[in-house]
Amino acid sequence: MKVLIAYASAHGSTAEVAQFIGQVLEERGSDVTIASVDDVQKVDGYDAVIAGSAIHAGMWLTPMSRFLDRFERELASRPLYLFITCIRVLEPDGYEHALQYYVHQETLQQLGVREVGVFAGKLRLDAIDMRERWTLSLRYDGGVIPGEFNDDFRDWDAIRDWAIKVGERLESA
Ligand SMILES: Cc1cc2nc3c(=O)[nH]c(=O)nc-3n(C[C@H](O)[C@H](O)[C@H](O)COP(=O)(O)O)c2cc1C
Repeated sequence: MKVLIAYASAHGSTAEVAQFIGQVLEERGSDVTIASVDDVQKVDGYDAVIAGSAIHAGMWLTPMSRFLDRFERELASRPLYLFITCIRVLEPDGYEHALQYYVHQETLQQLGVREVGVFAGKLRLDAIDMRERWTLSLRYDGGVIPGEFNDDFRDWDAIRDWAIKVGERLESA
């Protein structure tokens, strides 16, 4: 099974999640390619695709939109899974909120996305620039000041569980 994992990451932590998911699938016997969405030249030739993005201002990153748009036909014709990393999921009802509002429902339907994984991400305030600070403070839609989430919240067990679930579904298809 040839699997492409294509990620959009502003500060690298979503890329690391993509690598980790790739390892889990490789351990299960898949042939995995991991690439930034900007570097993907073709999707034909892969049996399945997992796309993953960080969330900025309540939506996946622009390079992810471009990727989904660019390969719309190819993505719609093979198993497609999506994951996002964010901080809103750490708040009460954050999981439901992210699942509903942090992804573009129409696009998910058009492409036939089979499953969406919502994972807590990583935010280091000292690593983001002034423009990002403004975006975060003005556009973050949670109830907590985003500065409170200044840490690495990635739950590798939860990510592994999701990757195993995806792997099982791919293998049984
Ligand atoms: C400028 C900026 C805006 C963000 N906006 C949101 C947001 O609207 N909702 C949210 O839950 N997380 C938001 N986050 C948190 C990121 O989605 C999270 O830290 C993610 O794991 C970062 O992944 P990366 O290291 O791959 O860039 C934002 C982070 C930054 C830097």
